[in-house]
Amino acid sequence: MLALTIEAILDFAGTRSRHFRLIACGVASHDADGTPRELFIAFFAIIRDTLRDLLGAEWSPDIARAWDQLLVDIDAFAGIAA
Ligand code: HEM
Repeated sequence: MLALTIEAILDFAGTRSRHFRLIACGVASHDADGTPRELFIAFFAIIRDTLRDLLGAEWSPDIARAWDQLLVDIDAFAGIAA
């Protein structure tokens, strides 16, 4: 699931050609399985936080801003799909 989520993030931030759709499908299927939308969305922030911890000093303000915007965009996209 983590690998599929990362593929969805990369496609969402990139060409939005295919895998990004998993975000829309996933928010509904997980909700049906009892994973609330807020927790589903929190998964993306957990990935961001983990990368930030791994990158340490290489986590630049530009990277931080790009991730902040990406999380806002993913939340909006998932909201449209929910
Ligand atoms: C904290 C948030 C999340 C929780 C608690 C969660 C929980 C789960 C659970 C319990 C399953 C297994 C369902 C089953 O076998 O019937 C599952 C499967 C799956 N989840 Fe998540 N999920 C989360 C976030 C995400 C996100 C953000 C994505 C992608 C955008 C995602 C994509 C998938 C996919 C594709 C599957 C089915 C394929 C697989 O089993 O690897 N999940 N999830």
